[in-house]
Amino acid sequence: MSSQTPFHQSVLVDAVVRYAMPENGQIFVDGTFGLGGHTRAVLASYPSITRVIGIDRDAEILEYSCRTLEDQRINRFQANASDLPEILARCDLKGVDGILLDLGVSSWQLDNAARGFSFTRPGPLDMRMNNAEGPTAADLVNQLERDELTRIFFEYGEEKFSRRIADAIVRQRNATPFTTTDQLAKTVTEAMPAASRRQSQIHPATRVFQALRIAVNHELEEIERFLGIALACLNTGGHLTIISFHSLEDRLVKAFMQKHQKGCECPPRFPVCVCGKKPLLKLLTGKAIFADDNETAANPRARSARLRAAMKLSTGDNEK
Ligand SMILES: C[S@@+](CC[C@H](N)C(=O)[O-])C[C@H]1O[C@@H](n2cnc3c(N)ncnc32)[C@H](O)[C@@H]1O
Repeated sequence: MSSQTPFHQSVLVDAVVRYAMPENGQIFVDGTFGLGGHTRAVLASYPSITRVIGIDRDAEILEYSCRTLEDQRINRFQANASDLPEILARCDLKGVDGILLDLGVSSWQLDNAARGFSFTRPGPLDMRMNNAEGPTAADLVNQLERDELTRIFFEYGEEKFSRRIADAIVRQRNATPFTTTDQLAKTVTEAMPAASRRQSQIHPATRVFQALRIAVNHELEEIERFLGIALACLNTGGHLTIISFHSLEDRLVKAFMQKHQKGCECPPRFPVCVCGKKPLLKLLTGKAIFADDNETAANPRARSARLRAAMKLSTGDNEK
C-alpha cells in the first residue's frame, strides 16, 4: 500500500447534497465510495440517515477511507456497484432511499503511480480499480489485435490517431512487451504527428490512457448493468443521482432516465394507449448540472463532470 496521503476533492458537492436523498430518507447507497467525500456531505445534511452502504471496487481506497471518514452508520463493501442486490440481501435490506454514483477514478488513484493510471508517473501498466481481478492494461496492449486496440482508442478515447497509435503499439510490443506506463506514454506520443503533438492542449497520451482504463474496468458495461439494478433497488420516492465524466457514460445515463420518465410507448397514431406503460422515474434535473467557474478553477477535474438525478415513482400495478 502507498504511504501517500490520500486525497480526492469531491465534485458538485452542493448538487449532490440537493438531490442525493429524499427528505427524511434513511438508507443511502454510495456506489462509488472512494474516500467518502460525498457521503460525508450527505450525512451532514440528512440527519434522518440511519445507514450508509458504501461500495467501491478498490479495496485499498476503501481501507484508506476508514481513516478519512469514520461513522458507525457506514458499512463498506469491496464490490461493483452493480452487486447492490446481493449486498442489500446480506444486510437484510429490501430497498434504499438514495443511490449515488460518482463515476471514474479518484485523484488518489490517478496520482498513485503504483496503480498505473497515470501517463506522467512511471509505474506498472495496470489500471485495474480492483487490482485482484481481470487483465491489466499491459495485458490488453500486449495481447489485443490491432483492430481491437484501434476500436478502443477511437470509441472510448475519441482518439483520431487511433490506427496510427495501434500500429505503433503492435510494432513496439513485438520488440519489447509493454510493462510500464511511461513506455506506453512514450510510444503513443511518438506515434502522433509532430504538429498535433505541438498544438495539443493535453498530454498526447491522455485519450489512449482514458480509453484503456474504460476497457480494463468494463466501465460502460458496468453502468448499463447498474442502471436497471438501481431502479429495482430504490424505494418509491427514492433518488438516483449520477455524476459522469465521459460523454459515453452520460449518454447511457440520460437515455435510461428519459426512457423511464416516459409512460406510454404506443405509436402516436393510436387514439388510446394500449401498452399501459406508466413512467417509473421523474427527472429532478432537467438538463445535466455542470460545475461553475469557481469550482472548475479550484478543481480542473470538475470541468467534465455532469450530474443527473431522478426520483422513482410509485410502480403500483404498472410493471409489465
Ligand atoms: C470519483 S471516485 C469517488 C469519489 C467519492 N465520491 C468522494 O467524494 O470521495 C470514484 C470511485 O469509485 C470507484 N468505482 C468506479 N466505478 C465503480 C463501480 N462501478 N463500482 C464500484 N466502485 C466503482 C473507484 O474505484 C473510485 O474509488
